[in-house]
Formats: sequence, C-alpha cells, structure tokens
Amino acid sequence: MQLPFIIANWKMNKTIQESTNYARGLERYLVETQPKATVIVCPCAIFLPFMSQIQHEHFSLGVQNFFPADKGSFTGECSLTMFDSVDISYAIVGHSERRQLFKESDELLQQKVIYALEKDYTVIFCIGETKEEKEQGLTEEVILKQLEILSTLPKEKKGTILIAYEPLWAIGTGIVPSRESIQSIVQIIQKYAREMLAPCNKNIYTLYGGSVTQDNIDDILNINGIQGVLIGSASLELDTFITIIQSV
Ligand code: PGA
Repeated sequence: MQLPFIIANWKMNKTIQESTNYARGLERYLVETQPKATVIVCPCAIFLPFMSQIQHEHFSLGVQNFFPADKGSFTGECSLTMFDSVDISYAIVGHSERRQLFKESDELLQQKVIYALEKDYTVIFCIGETKEEKEQGLTEEVILKQLEILSTLPKEKKGTILIAYEPLWAIGTGIVPSRESIQSIVQIIQKYAREMLAPCNKNIYTLYGGSVTQDNIDDILNINGIQGVLIGSASLELDTFITIIQSV
C-alpha cells in the first residue's frame, strides 16, 4: 500500500548549514520512529548535492524547478541531467509561483512533465484556482483546463504523477478550504484521471497543498481520496515538520 506523501517545499529558503542540519535531524528522527509516510524534501537546488551526500534512506529529495532539455543556451537554468549524480527522484512542476511569477505557460509545463517522466522522476504537478476564479465559480473549469496537459502524455513509458490541488488563496495565507470543497475537487481530479488520463499509463495520486500545518494535517489526510500533502511554511522548521509526520 502506498504510504501518504508528506512533501516539504522549502522554496527559496535556508542556508547550506541549515539545509544539511535539517537533513541529518530528519533522517535521525525517521530512523528511530519509522513513520508510515513517504517523506520528500525539495530544497534549494544548489544544496541538493550536499543534502544527497547525507544519509537519507528514509526520505527522498526533489527539485523545485528545472528546464526541460539536457543542455543548451538557457541562461540561469538547470537540466535534470545535471542532477544525474545526485540522488533525486521527485520534481515539482506547475507550482503557482512558477506559473504566476515566472509566467510558465501550459506548453512549457507540458514539456517539463514529459521530460521529467522520461528521466524517471515522479512528477508533483500543482494545480489550483485564484481567489477571483473561485469567487466567479470557475474552480472546476480552471482545474480541468490545467489537467488537460496531462491527457496527451506519451503512453509508452509508465510513470507516477502526484497531482497536488493547491488553491492559490490558500498558499501562505493560513486559510484552508472546507473539507467538502477539497473533497469535491479531489473527486473531479480522480474522475478526470479515470476517464482521461487512463490511456497515458501513469499512476496518479491526489494531494492537497496550501497552509497545511500540524493543526490541520489530521483533518486533511482524513479527507477521502487525499493521499498526501505539499507543505511550504510549516516544513521550514524541522520540529514542526516532524510533528506533521508524526500525525500520519
Ligand atoms: P504553504 O505553501 O504551505 O506555505 O501554504 C504551500 C505551497 O506553496 O506548496
């Protein structure tokens, strides 16, 4: 049985010292307690080689960003090939901060998903509506449109995609959608996965992200169909992150 995914997205935070100390502390805790969770940490890219050298048998590492080509004239970008010597198995694609701040288009996101799957990464694909879209009753439409890019993935290669529903108005705000509304979006995603994504031959899991904390983790993981969480702020302090893992 797949254990719930507990994913830390550190975004652009932490020093090298903080990152490696955290990795050591996390591994120590996981060795002692053997929690029933699949734990993944996505640090700042330049710390990945250092973190991967620290023993991490009990958690995996992920990239927050990459460019979908092995090499070339893409100033400032990193390819997944460049991480070949580093033990990374997860890649975040489509986070709202990448969509909004860096104007990543659906076309680019699709290339990123295809490229990451080709490289045998598990893709953490983020979707979610803005506050305005929610107020206009457009949530379902927006979600389905964002999911569309997954429906044309090459089917020759198996792979795993974690679809993280992250309403933008819940990210970093302390506001979490009601249980019912998360549940209804999960149903929409799962129906879409059954009807439209089945031919693309991928394992699909449904996650939630947006203001997940030690106080609401229980409620969120108890929502039918939720198979994990993507956590920003509450993953930055090791003690808090451990409390969250303990709740699983
Ligand atoms: P948050 O961020 O937990 O700080 O709301 C979640 C995310 O951006 O993935």
